[in-house]
Amino acid sequence: MIHTLEWTEQGVRFLDQTKLPTEETYVTCNTHEQVADVIRNMVVRGAPAIGVAAAMGIALGVKNSTAESPGDLKRELDQICDVIGKTRPTAVNLFWAIRRMQEKFERIRIRPVTQIKQGLIEEAQRMHAEDIAANQAMGRHGATLMPADGGVLTHCNAGALATAGYGTALGVIRAAVEEGKKIHVYADETRPFLQGSRLTAWELMKDGIPTTVISDNMAGAMMRQGKIKAIVVGADRIAANGDVANKIGTYTVAVLAKEHGIPFYVAAPISTVDLACLDGSQIPIEQRNAQEVSHIAGKQMVPDGVAVENPAFDVTPAQYIAAIITENGIARSPFDISLRKLTAQEVEVHP
Ligand code: MRU
Repeated sequence: MIHTLEWTEQGVRFLDQTKLPTEETYVTCNTHEQVADVIRNMVVRGAPAIGVAAAMGIALGVKNSTAESPGDLKRELDQICDVIGKTRPTAVNLFWAIRRMQEKFERIRIRPVTQIKQGLIEEAQRMHAEDIAANQAMGRHGATLMPADGGVLTHCNAGALATAGYGTALGVIRAAVEEGKKIHVYADETRPFLQGSRLTAWELMKDGIPTTVISDNMAGAMMRQGKIKAIVVGADRIAANGDVANKIGTYTVAVLAKEHGIPFYVAAPISTVDLACLDGSQIPIEQRNAQEVSHIAGKQMVPDGVAVENPAFDVTPAQYIAAIITENGIARSPFDISLRKLTAQEVEVHP
Protein backbone atom coordinates (compact mmCIF):
# COMPACT_ATOMS: atom_id res chain seq x y z
CA MET A 1 0.00 0.00 0.00
CA ILE A 2 1.43 3.37 -1.03
CA HIS A 3 0.65 6.18 1.45
CA THR A 4 0.60 9.18 -0.88
CA LEU A 5 -0.79 11.46 1.83
CA GLU A 6 -2.39 10.97 5.21
CA TRP A 7 -3.74 12.88 8.17
CA THR A 8 -1.65 12.20 11.28
CA GLU A 9 -1.54 13.61 14.81
CA GLN A 10 1.65 15.47 13.84
CA GLY A 11 0.20 17.07 10.69
CA VAL A 12 -0.41 16.08 7.06
CA ARG A 13 2.20 13.61 5.87
CA PHE A 14 3.16 13.40 2.19
CA LEU A 15 5.34 10.94 0.33
CA ASP A 16 7.82 13.31 -1.36
CA GLN A 17 7.25 12.58 -5.05
CA THR A 18 10.04 14.90 -6.16
CA LYS A 19 12.53 12.42 -4.63
CA LEU A 20 11.16 9.28 -6.32
CA PRO A 21 12.20 6.83 -7.62
CA THR A 22 15.50 6.79 -5.76
CA GLU A 23 14.42 8.03 -2.30
CA GLU A 24 11.26 7.12 -0.39
CA THR A 25 11.02 10.02 2.06
CA TYR A 26 8.14 11.83 3.71
CA VAL A 27 7.36 15.48 4.42
CA THR A 28 5.05 16.48 7.28
CA CYS A 29 3.21 19.81 7.03
CA ASN A 30 2.06 21.61 10.17
CA THR A 31 0.45 24.63 8.52
CA HIS A 32 -1.82 25.22 5.54
CA GLU A 33 0.89 27.42 3.98
CA GLN A 34 3.22 24.43 3.99
CA VAL A 35 0.52 22.31 2.35
CA ALA A 36 0.11 25.01 -0.33
CA ASP A 37 3.87 24.84 -0.95
CA VAL A 38 3.94 21.05 -1.33
CA ILE A 39 1.07 21.25 -3.84
CA ARG A 40 2.79 24.06 -5.79
CA ASN A 41 6.19 22.31 -5.76
CA MET A 42 4.64 18.97 -6.74
CA VAL A 43 5.74 17.04 -3.67
CA VAL A 44 2.15 15.86 -4.09
CA ARG A 45 0.56 16.02 -7.53
CA GLY A 46 -2.16 14.40 -9.63
CA ALA A 47 -5.66 15.87 -9.67
CA PRO A 48 -7.41 13.70 -7.04
CA ALA A 49 -4.40 13.81 -4.69
CA ILE A 50 -4.28 17.60 -5.05
CA GLY A 51 -7.98 17.70 -4.08
CA VAL A 52 -7.52 15.61 -0.95
CA ALA A 53 -4.32 17.53 -0.07
CA ALA A 54 -6.26 20.79 -0.36
CA ALA A 55 -8.99 19.49 1.96
CA MET A 56 -6.41 18.33 4.50
CA GLY A 57 -4.55 21.65 4.22
CA ILE A 58 -7.79 23.51 4.94
CA ALA A 59 -8.54 21.22 7.90
CA LEU A 60 -5.03 21.86 9.21
CA GLY A 61 -5.39 25.62 8.87
CA VAL A 62 -8.73 25.56 10.68
CA LYS A 63 -7.31 23.29 13.40
CA ASN A 64 -4.49 25.81 14.00
CA SER A 65 -6.90 28.76 14.20
CA THR A 66 -7.32 30.67 17.46
CA ALA A 67 -10.73 32.03 16.41
CA GLU A 68 -13.27 31.94 19.22
CA SER A 69 -16.49 32.36 17.23
CA PRO A 70 -17.83 30.65 14.08
CA GLY A 71 -17.86 34.07 12.35
CA ASP A 72 -14.13 34.64 13.02
CA LEU A 73 -13.38 31.05 12.03
CA LYS A 74 -15.25 31.56 8.74
CA ARG A 75 -13.12 34.64 7.96
CA GLU A 76 -9.99 32.57 8.56
CA LEU A 77 -11.39 29.68 6.52
CA ASP A 78 -11.85 32.05 3.56
CA GLN A 79 -8.23 33.22 3.85
CA ILE A 80 -6.95 29.63 4.10
CA CYS A 81 -8.99 28.62 1.04
CA ASP A 82 -7.58 31.60 -0.83
CA VAL A 83 -3.99 30.49 -0.12
CA ILE A 84 -4.71 26.87 -1.12
CA GLY A 85 -6.68 27.96 -4.19
CA LYS A 86 -3.71 29.87 -5.63
CA THR A 87 -1.46 26.82 -5.97
CA ARG A 88 -2.30 25.05 -9.24
CA PRO A 89 -5.03 26.22 -11.63
CA THR A 90 -5.86 23.27 -13.91
CA ALA A 91 -6.92 20.34 -11.72
CA VAL A 92 -10.52 21.18 -10.87
CA ASN A 93 -10.39 18.76 -7.92
CA LEU A 94 -8.60 21.52 -5.98
CA PHE A 95 -11.58 23.88 -6.34
CA TRP A 96 -14.05 21.04 -5.84
CA ALA A 97 -12.33 20.25 -2.51
CA ILE A 98 -12.38 23.90 -1.41
CA ARG A 99 -16.08 24.15 -2.21
CA ARG A 100 -16.84 20.94 -0.36
CA MET A 101 -15.00 22.14 2.77
CA GLN A 102 -16.84 25.48 2.59
CA GLU A 103 -20.18 23.69 2.24
CA LYS A 104 -19.35 21.47 5.20
CA PHE A 105 -18.61 24.59 7.26
CA GLU A 106 -22.00 26.07 6.34
CA ARG A 107 -23.80 22.89 7.40
CA ILE A 108 -22.18 22.88 10.88
CA ARG A 109 -21.56 26.59 11.56
CA ILE A 110 -24.16 26.67 14.36
CA ARG A 111 -21.98 24.32 16.42
CA PRO A 112 -19.24 25.35 18.91
CA VAL A 113 -15.87 26.18 17.30
CA THR A 114 -14.17 22.98 18.55
CA GLN A 115 -16.88 20.87 16.94
CA ILE A 116 -16.66 22.80 13.66
CA LYS A 117 -12.91 22.14 13.58
CA GLN A 118 -13.47 18.44 14.25
CA GLY A 119 -16.17 18.30 11.56
CA LEU A 120 -13.81 19.76 8.95
CA ILE A 121 -11.01 17.37 9.91
CA GLU A 122 -13.42 14.45 9.55
CA GLU A 123 -14.64 15.75 6.17
CA ALA A 124 -11.08 15.82 4.81
CA GLN A 125 -10.49 12.28 6.05
CA ARG A 126 -13.78 11.18 4.50
CA MET A 127 -12.67 12.64 1.16
CA HIS A 128 -9.48 10.59 1.42
CA ALA A 129 -11.44 7.36 1.99
CA GLU A 130 -14.01 8.20 -0.69
CA ASP A 131 -11.28 8.79 -3.26
CA ILE A 132 -9.87 5.30 -2.75
CA ALA A 133 -13.37 3.78 -2.99
CA ALA A 134 -14.07 5.79 -6.18
CA ASN A 135 -10.85 4.53 -7.74
CA GLN A 136 -11.70 0.94 -6.92
CA ALA A 137 -15.15 1.36 -8.49
CA MET A 138 -13.57 3.01 -11.54
CA GLY A 139 -11.20 0.05 -11.74
CA ARG A 140 -14.09 -2.42 -11.79
CA HIS A 141 -15.86 -0.51 -14.59
CA GLY A 142 -12.71 0.15 -16.60
CA ALA A 143 -11.28 -3.37 -16.37
CA THR A 144 -14.03 -4.55 -18.73
CA LEU A 145 -12.51 -2.33 -21.44
CA MET A 146 -8.96 -3.64 -21.08
CA PRO A 147 -7.65 -6.33 -23.45
CA ALA A 148 -7.31 -9.91 -22.13
CA ASP A 149 -3.61 -9.64 -22.89
CA GLY A 150 -1.20 -7.24 -24.53
CA GLY A 151 0.22 -3.75 -24.23
CA VAL A 152 -1.62 -0.84 -22.62
CA LEU A 153 -0.05 2.60 -22.89
CA THR A 154 -0.41 5.30 -20.24
CA HIS A 155 0.86 8.86 -20.04
CA CYS A 156 2.03 10.71 -16.92
CA ASN A 157 1.11 9.16 -13.56
CA ALA A 158 -2.54 8.52 -12.81
CA GLY A 159 -1.85 5.95 -10.14
CA ALA A 160 -1.86 5.56 -6.37
CA LEU A 161 0.61 8.44 -6.24
CA ALA A 162 -1.82 10.78 -8.02
CA THR A 163 -4.74 9.91 -5.76
CA ALA A 164 -5.42 8.88 -2.17
CA GLY A 165 -4.69 5.33 -3.31
CA TYR A 166 -5.14 2.70 -6.08
CA GLY A 167 -5.23 5.22 -8.91
CA THR A 168 -7.53 6.15 -11.76
CA ALA A 169 -5.91 5.00 -15.04
CA LEU A 170 -3.55 2.70 -13.12
CA GLY A 171 -6.51 1.62 -10.98
CA VAL A 172 -8.16 0.37 -14.18
CA ILE A 173 -4.97 -1.50 -15.08
CA ARG A 174 -4.63 -2.86 -11.50
CA ALA A 175 -8.23 -4.12 -11.53
CA ALA A 176 -7.74 -5.76 -14.93
CA VAL A 177 -4.58 -7.50 -13.68
CA GLU A 178 -6.41 -8.58 -10.50
CA GLU A 179 -9.04 -10.16 -12.78
CA GLY A 180 -6.31 -12.21 -14.45
CA LYS A 181 -5.73 -10.11 -17.58
CA LYS A 182 -2.15 -10.27 -18.85
CA ILE A 183 -1.34 -6.63 -19.34
CA HIS A 184 2.04 -5.17 -20.14
CA VAL A 185 2.15 -1.44 -19.44
CA TYR A 186 3.99 0.99 -21.69
CA ALA A 187 4.69 4.09 -19.61
CA ASP A 188 5.49 7.32 -21.47
CA GLU A 189 8.32 8.96 -19.54
CA THR A 190 6.36 12.27 -19.67
CA ARG A 191 8.75 15.12 -20.23
CA PRO A 192 9.50 17.48 -18.62
CA PHE A 193 8.65 16.34 -15.07
CA LEU A 194 9.03 12.61 -15.80
CA GLN A 195 5.99 11.39 -13.88
CA GLY A 196 5.84 8.32 -16.16
CA SER A 197 9.41 7.08 -15.73
CA ARG A 198 9.85 8.20 -12.11
CA LEU A 199 6.41 7.51 -10.64
CA THR A 200 4.32 5.19 -12.83
CA ALA A 201 7.20 2.76 -13.32
CA TRP A 202 8.00 2.93 -9.58
CA GLU A 203 4.51 2.07 -8.40
CA LEU A 204 3.86 -0.61 -11.03
CA MET A 205 7.21 -2.25 -10.17
CA LYS A 206 6.09 -2.40 -6.53
CA ASP A 207 2.94 -4.25 -7.66
CA GLY A 208 4.85 -6.58 -9.98
CA ILE A 209 2.95 -5.36 -13.07
CA PRO A 210 5.22 -5.70 -16.15
CA THR A 211 6.16 -2.23 -17.36
CA THR A 212 8.32 -0.79 -20.11
CA VAL A 213 9.27 2.89 -20.04
CA ILE A 214 9.46 4.66 -23.39
CA SER A 215 10.34 8.26 -24.16
CA ASP A 216 7.30 10.23 -25.31
CA ASN A 217 8.45 10.38 -28.93
CA MET A 218 8.42 6.54 -29.16
CA ALA A 219 4.67 6.16 -28.62
CA GLY A 220 3.75 6.37 -32.33
CA ALA A 221 6.33 3.76 -33.34
CA MET A 222 5.09 1.39 -30.61
CA MET A 223 1.52 1.77 -31.88
CA ARG A 224 2.57 1.15 -35.47
CA GLN A 225 4.42 -2.01 -34.41
CA GLY A 226 1.17 -3.35 -32.90
CA LYS A 227 2.47 -3.31 -29.35
CA ILE A 228 -0.36 -1.19 -27.95
CA LYS A 229 -3.92 -2.55 -27.72
CA ALA A 230 -5.44 0.21 -25.60
CA ILE A 231 -4.55 3.51 -23.99
CA VAL A 232 -5.76 4.73 -20.62
CA VAL A 233 -4.90 8.07 -19.03
CA GLY A 234 -6.17 10.23 -16.18
CA ALA A 235 -7.59 13.75 -16.33
CA ASP A 236 -7.16 17.07 -14.55
CA ARG A 237 -10.42 18.57 -15.75
CA ILE A 238 -13.17 17.29 -18.02
CA ALA A 239 -15.40 19.86 -19.72
CA ALA A 240 -19.15 19.33 -20.16
CA ASN A 241 -18.67 18.30 -23.80
CA GLY A 242 -16.08 15.63 -22.91
CA ASP A 243 -12.92 17.58 -23.82
CA VAL A 244 -10.19 16.48 -21.41
CA ALA A 245 -7.29 18.44 -19.93
CA ASN A 246 -4.48 16.13 -18.89
CA LYS A 247 -0.68 16.16 -18.76
CA ILE A 248 1.03 17.80 -21.71
CA GLY A 249 1.53 15.21 -24.44
CA THR A 250 -1.81 13.47 -23.89
CA TYR A 251 -3.28 15.13 -26.98
CA THR A 252 -0.44 13.79 -29.14
CA VAL A 253 -1.08 10.27 -27.83
CA ALA A 254 -4.82 10.58 -28.52
CA VAL A 255 -4.30 11.71 -32.12
CA LEU A 256 -1.82 8.87 -32.71
CA ALA A 257 -4.31 6.42 -31.19
CA LYS A 258 -7.02 7.50 -33.62
CA GLU A 259 -4.69 7.12 -36.59
CA HIS A 260 -3.83 3.56 -35.49
CA GLY A 261 -7.39 2.55 -34.55
CA ILE A 262 -6.49 2.04 -30.88
CA PRO A 263 -9.13 2.89 -28.23
CA PHE A 264 -8.17 5.88 -26.09
CA TYR A 265 -9.79 5.86 -22.61
CA VAL A 266 -9.83 8.45 -19.84
CA ALA A 267 -10.35 7.38 -16.21
CA ALA A 268 -11.31 10.07 -13.70
CA PRO A 269 -13.60 10.58 -10.72
CA ILE A 270 -16.76 12.66 -11.00
CA SER A 271 -14.93 15.37 -8.99
CA THR A 272 -12.80 15.95 -12.12
CA VAL A 273 -15.83 16.74 -14.29
CA ASP A 274 -16.45 20.48 -14.51
CA LEU A 275 -19.85 21.09 -16.10
CA ALA A 276 -19.28 24.83 -15.74
CA CYS A 277 -16.60 24.55 -18.46
CA LEU A 278 -18.59 24.07 -21.61
CA ASP A 279 -15.59 22.92 -23.63
CA GLY A 280 -11.84 22.53 -23.37
CA SER A 281 -11.09 26.09 -24.49
CA GLN A 282 -12.41 27.29 -21.09
CA ILE A 283 -9.98 25.17 -19.06
CA PRO A 284 -7.11 27.22 -17.59
CA ILE A 285 -3.75 25.70 -18.46
CA GLU A 286 -0.96 26.04 -15.90
CA GLN A 287 2.31 27.44 -17.22
CA ARG A 288 5.25 26.20 -15.15
CA ASN A 289 8.81 27.36 -14.72
CA ALA A 290 10.86 27.23 -17.95
CA GLN A 291 13.71 25.56 -16.03
CA GLU A 292 11.72 22.31 -15.92
CA VAL A 293 12.25 22.16 -19.71
CA SER A 294 15.61 23.86 -20.12
CA HIS A 295 17.35 21.83 -17.40
CA ILE A 296 17.51 18.09 -16.78
CA ALA A 297 18.59 17.02 -13.28
CA GLY A 298 20.02 20.50 -12.74
CA LYS A 299 22.06 20.51 -15.97
CA GLN A 300 21.31 23.18 -18.57
CA MET A 301 20.19 21.68 -21.93
CA VAL A 302 19.13 24.85 -23.77
CA PRO A 303 21.41 27.75 -24.73
CA ASP A 304 21.10 30.92 -22.65
CA GLY A 305 18.52 33.36 -23.97
CA VAL A 306 16.48 30.84 -26.01
CA ALA A 307 12.70 31.01 -25.49
CA VAL A 308 11.13 28.01 -23.75
CA GLU A 309 7.48 27.11 -23.23
CA ASN A 310 6.23 24.92 -20.43
CA PRO A 311 2.46 24.38 -20.44
CA ALA A 312 1.83 21.63 -17.89
CA PHE A 313 -1.33 20.34 -19.59
CA ASP A 314 -3.04 20.10 -22.95
CA VAL A 315 -6.62 19.53 -24.03
CA THR A 316 -7.72 16.43 -25.92
CA PRO A 317 -10.95 17.07 -27.85
CA ALA A 318 -13.78 14.65 -27.05
CA GLN A 319 -13.77 13.27 -30.61
CA TYR A 320 -10.57 11.33 -29.82
CA ILE A 321 -11.95 9.70 -26.67
CA ALA A 322 -13.57 6.25 -26.86
CA ALA A 323 -14.92 6.39 -23.29
CA ILE A 324 -14.60 8.21 -19.98
CA ILE A 325 -14.50 5.82 -17.02
CA THR A 326 -15.86 7.18 -13.72
CA GLU A 327 -16.83 5.60 -10.40
CA ASN A 328 -20.48 5.96 -11.46
CA GLY A 329 -20.04 4.12 -14.75
CA ILE A 330 -18.71 4.60 -18.27
CA ALA A 331 -19.57 7.66 -20.36
CA ARG A 332 -19.50 7.49 -24.14
CA SER A 333 -20.23 9.98 -26.91
CA PRO A 334 -22.30 12.17 -26.91
CA PHE A 335 -20.50 13.13 -23.70
CA ASP A 336 -22.60 16.22 -22.99
CA ILE A 337 -25.49 13.84 -22.27
CA SER A 338 -23.63 10.85 -20.75
CA LEU A 339 -21.50 12.98 -18.40
CA ARG A 340 -24.52 14.90 -17.17
CA LYS A 341 -26.27 11.60 -16.36
CA LEU A 342 -23.29 10.24 -14.42
CA THR A 343 -22.69 13.46 -12.48
CA ALA A 344 -26.37 13.70 -11.52
CA GLN A 345 -26.26 10.46 -9.51
CA GLU A 346 -27.08 10.82 -5.82
CA VAL A 347 -24.23 11.48 -3.39
CA GLU A 348 -24.44 10.98 0.36
CA VAL A 349 -24.11 14.24 2.32
CA HIS A 350 -22.94 14.07 5.95
CA PRO A 351 -24.21 16.77 8.31
O1 MRU B 1 1.30 17.95 -13.10
P1 MRU B 1 0.72 16.73 -12.48
O2 MRU B 1 1.73 15.66 -12.19
O3 MRU B 1 -0.12 17.05 -11.27
O4 MRU B 1 -0.24 16.15 -13.59
C1 MRU B 1 -0.91 14.96 -13.35
C2 MRU B 1 -1.72 14.50 -14.49
O5 MRU B 1 -1.81 15.13 -15.52
C3 MRU B 1 -2.52 13.26 -14.26
O6 MRU B 1 -2.61 12.50 -15.41
C4 MRU B 1 -3.93 13.66 -13.80
O7 MRU B 1 -3.86 14.53 -12.72
C5 MRU B 1 -4.74 12.50 -13.44
S1 MRU B 1 -4.22 11.80 -11.93
C6 MRU B 1 -5.22 10.56 -11.47
